[in-house]
Amino acid sequence: MTLPVVRTVPDLRAAIAAWRAQGLTVGMVPTMGALHEGHLSLVRLVKREADRCVASLFVNPKQFAAHEDLDKYPRDEAGDAAKLAGAGCDLLWAPATAVMYPPDFATSVTVSGVSEGLETAIRPHFFGGVATVVTKLLLQALPDVAAFGEKDYQQLLVIRKLAADLDIPVRVIAGATAREADGTAMSSRNAYLSAAERVIAGRLNGLLFAAAKAIGDGASVSPTLSALRADLAAAGFDAVEYAALCDAHTLAEITTLDQEARLLAAVRVGATRLIDNVAVRVDGM
Ligand code: PAJ
Repeated sequence: MTLPVVRTVPDLRAAIAAWRAQGLTVGMVPTMGALHEGHLSLVRLVKREADRCVASLFVNPKQFAAHEDLDKYPRDEAGDAAKLAGAGCDLLWAPATAVMYPPDFATSVTVSGVSEGLETAIRPHFFGGVATVVTKLLLQALPDVAAFGEKDYQQLLVIRKLAADLDIPVRVIAGATAREADGTAMSSRNAYLSAAERVIAGRLNGLLFAAAKAIGDGASVSPTLSALRADLAAAGFDAVEYAALCDAHTLAEITTLDQEARLLAAVRVGATRLIDNVAVRVDGM
C-alpha cells in the first residue's frame, strides 16, 4: 500500500475531517524521519488507541543549533513512508519548511520547569524548538491521542506540560524505548557511529541499568552516580555530559530515593551524542 501524503495544512485538515465524519478517532506520531523500530512501535501503540494514525515527518530546524547536524540529518521520505505503511499508519504529514515556518513566522513556545537542566544545559535552544513545533503539529491535526517515546524522557515531559498548560485537547501517551539486541536505545543518530564506536555505545544501557538497580536496592545515590560516571569513562565514552537521578515527574535532581525516579544520562562517543534513561524501582511504589 502506498501511504497517502499531505503537504499543506488545509489538506491535512480535510483528510482528518473525512475520518471524523465517519466517527473515527485519530492518533498522531510526530517524527523527524530516518525511521526505525522505535518510531514504528509508536505507530502500533497509537493504532491500539485510535482508529487512524497520522505520522508527521518534519526535520525541525528550530531544534538544531547552528553547529548541529541539521544538514546531514538522514532523509529518506520514500523509505520512511513504506515503513510507516507497513506498521499500519494511514497518512503522512510532510510539510516543507516554508509551510511550517513562513518567512514572517514570529511565535515561539517556551516551557519552564521540566525544560530546565539536563538536555538544556548542553542544548539551550532545543526545547524551545521542540515545544514550538509540537504545539503546531498538535493544533494542525488536533488528534485524540499523540504518542512520544520514553527514549527522549525530558522531551516527553515537556510535551505533556505544554499540552496541559495550553489546553490542547490531546491525550499524550508514552511508548517504551525500543532497543537493539545489546540494549542500545534505537536512534537515528546511531547511524553516525563507526563500528568501534558502536561497540562502546552498546555499554551505556547496561551501566545505566546496573546503577539504577543498585540505587533501587538501597545504594547511596551520589557515590553510585560518581561510580557510574567513572565506569562510563572507563567504557570508552569520550564525555559524560550528565548522569543524574531525577524525580520522574518534575525532573528535579534528587539525592535520596523516596519518590518515583528516573536515571538519565547523555554521553559522547567520538562526534556522536547519545542519550538514554531508565526507571528506578522504588520498593512499595
Ligand atoms: P525523532 O527523534 O524522530 O523521534 C520521534 C519520536 O520517536 C519521539 O517521540 C521519540 O521519543 C521517539 N523515539 C525515538 N527513538 C525511540 C526509541 N528507541 N524507542 C521509542 N521511541 C523512540 O523526537 C523527535 O523526533 C522530535 O523532537 C519531534 C518530537 C518530532 C519534534 O520535532
